[in-house]
Amino acid sequence: MLIVITGASKGIGFEMVKHFLKQAPVTIVAVSRNTTTLIKLKKDLKTQNLVVVKGDITKAGDRKKISTAIKGSKLALNILINNAGHIVNKPFESISDKELLSVYNTNVLAPFALIQTLVPLMNKKEKSHIVNISSMGGFQGSSKFAGLSAYSSSKAAIAGLSECLAEELKPKNIAVNCLAIGAVQTEMLGKAFPGYKAPLQPNEMAAFICDFAINGHRYFNGKILPVSSSTP
Ligand SMILES: NC(=O)c1ccc[n+]([C@@H]2O[C@H](COP(=O)([O-])OP(=O)(O)OC[C@H]3O[C@@H](n4cnc5c(N)ncnc54)[C@H](OP(=O)(O)O)[C@@H]3O)[C@@H](O)[C@H]2O)c1
Repeated sequence: MLIVITGASKGIGFEMVKHFLKQAPVTIVAVSRNTTTLIKLKKDLKTQNLVVVKGDITKAGDRKKISTAIKGSKLALNILINNAGHIVNKPFESISDKELLSVYNTNVLAPFALIQTLVPLMNKKEKSHIVNISSMGGFQGSSKFAGLSAYSSSKAAIAGLSECLAEELKPKNIAVNCLAIGAVQTEMLGKAFPGYKAPLQPNEMAAFICDFAINGHRYFNGKILPVSSSTP
């Protein structure tokens, strides 16, 4: 089984890499701009099942590096987890064009383009699964937080994209789902909301997402699922 995880250097993504690697036989293509933690993990585990790609998903050339790594593995892609994310917590009026673009580039435009790049490499014989990581902030009808207009609206966009692609990719035997996750104690949360204590640690959320990525497509397609015990 071949799995691509973006945003794999820390937080939930890094924990997903570790979780999957305990479940042999899998090959993980792990993508992030900083790869120090991933290279150390590969060395510590002495594993060939972790392929580390140093790349920025917002750059077309780096997305190409991901497809090259997949082709190099000689395996068809079973699961893509679009997990990399970027947050800006600022009053609406003071969000600059550059900040807005950086949030939308990472959270919407890059996953859109990465899916376009990787669909041709996805397994055509068995059902494959694209899991997009959204946020409760982007879930329709949920509580909203001041300061997250760019971030939460981008997470609503990736949720909408997931519904569209589930329909369009059905003939290719690809399921697409979106997890709108609640607060998890990661660097991203700590920077955006200093002092806030989340109910879940990254390894706990990672375990759920990994299980969902493997089994969820049997039960869901085109669904935006809230995964939160704290956010109404
Ligand atoms: N933590 C929460 O409470 C929470 C709640 C709702 C949703 N989420 C979502 O869950 C996902 C994971 O978040 P997290 O809390 O684990 O965040 P995190 O600890 O900040 O990790 C984010 C990851 O994304 C990578 N990344 C960011 N921009 C990238 C880019 N352009 N190209 C490649 N990799 C990139 C980072 O690696 P590099 O910097 O090395 O590239 C890092 O590995 C995100 O989509 C986030 O929006 C989190």
